[in-house]
Amino acid sequence: MAPEFVRACVREMQGYEPGEQPVAGERVVKLNTNENPYQPSERVLQAIASVSGETLRRYPSPKADGFRDAAAKLHGVSREHIITGNGSDDILTISTRCFIPPGGVMAFPDPTYSLYPVLAKLEDAKALPVAWESGWSLPIDGLAGSGANAIYLANPNAPSGTFVSPLKVAELARRFSSLILVDEAYADFSDDNCVALVQEFSNVVISRTLSKAYSLAGLRFGYAIAQPAVIEQMMKVKDSYNCDALSIIAATAAIEDQAYAKSTWENIKSERTRVSSELTQLGWTVLPSQANFVLATVPSGRGKEMYLGLKEQGILVRYFDLPGLQDKIRITIGQSHENNALLAGIKMLSAAGKAA
Ligand SMILES: Cc1ncc(COP(=O)(O)O)c(C=O)c1O
Repeated sequence: MAPEFVRACVREMQGYEPGEQPVAGERVVKLNTNENPYQPSERVLQAIASVSGETLRRYPSPKADGFRDAAAKLHGVSREHIITGNGSDDILTISTRCFIPPGGVMAFPDPTYSLYPVLAKLEDAKALPVAWESGWSLPIDGLAGSGANAIYLANPNAPSGTFVSPLKVAELARRFSSLILVDEAYADFSDDNCVALVQEFSNVVISRTLSKAYSLAGLRFGYAIAQPAVIEQMMKVKDSYNCDALSIIAATAAIEDQAYAKSTWENIKSERTRVSSELTQLGWTVLPSQANFVLATVPSGRGKEMYLGLKEQGILVRYFDLPGLQDKIRITIGQSHENNALLAGIKMLSAAGKAA
């Protein structure tokens, strides 16, 4: 029984359930939480190794200005367009606290990243799922007419990997006057992104993370891009020192080494094509993905059995026990030897007449 003195909205909600994280040293093929399968840039490791005791003794830059300058240069904007966070989940929390009042409404196409309704409920606000239209296309009418205080749009979407064009997002931004948060956690694996919309629309905030494209999920660093008047308000909401000195230094080194990061994106995209086509040849249906994972339908329709069968072989993928997703598994694209292990595991289960 939850203590009575806990806020009702907290007592009544289910917390967010993160994917399984095996303990250090456990031997698994880990394709379940969309990490980048490659190590971070050597420049990141060197930057961390050269941090001085003096740097750690002092408080960090409250707004992570070194990183903001590097990110501003990367995106062709000014420092004032950038706010940083302790992972992009922190950016999503800051945004929810800043834009959605208690009793307000957060709308999002559904299914999507399952953290969104949790954040809404923590603000005592209502989560309003709006079903994707057929073919995972953006439900513009439903979202624009939702009366919400904010729309959260993961683009590419999780867990589908599907992508909504910037033209469609612009159409929504024109028809909706409150905030549109475009969560671009996976944008570096796609052919396009919505960053340019920030210049035209004051109600568009773009959220980015270093967890996926820069191989730094363990570091916790994310950022948002928006017009300076919006960023100024978000700054008031964040914790004073929400990013620590080590992470600011490492994240800056990571985005300054674009050549290395891009090489990992290219490998992942080519493995995505290979895994998708091999699964298709085995009779699976694979959604066209613009992210570093694919959502694939198990031919037998038994998603949970496939997930459990692979887990028995030490291969972790993600299964969502939710309407519309029970015949599917989400597979993070790994290095080629990991993808080979996955494909072999699937073939073994099929041959044994289990799950597939
Ligand atoms: C759509 C989406 N947004 C944000 C995140 C959170 O990323 P971070 O590690 O930056 O908190 C994830 C993580 O899986 C995600 O899938």
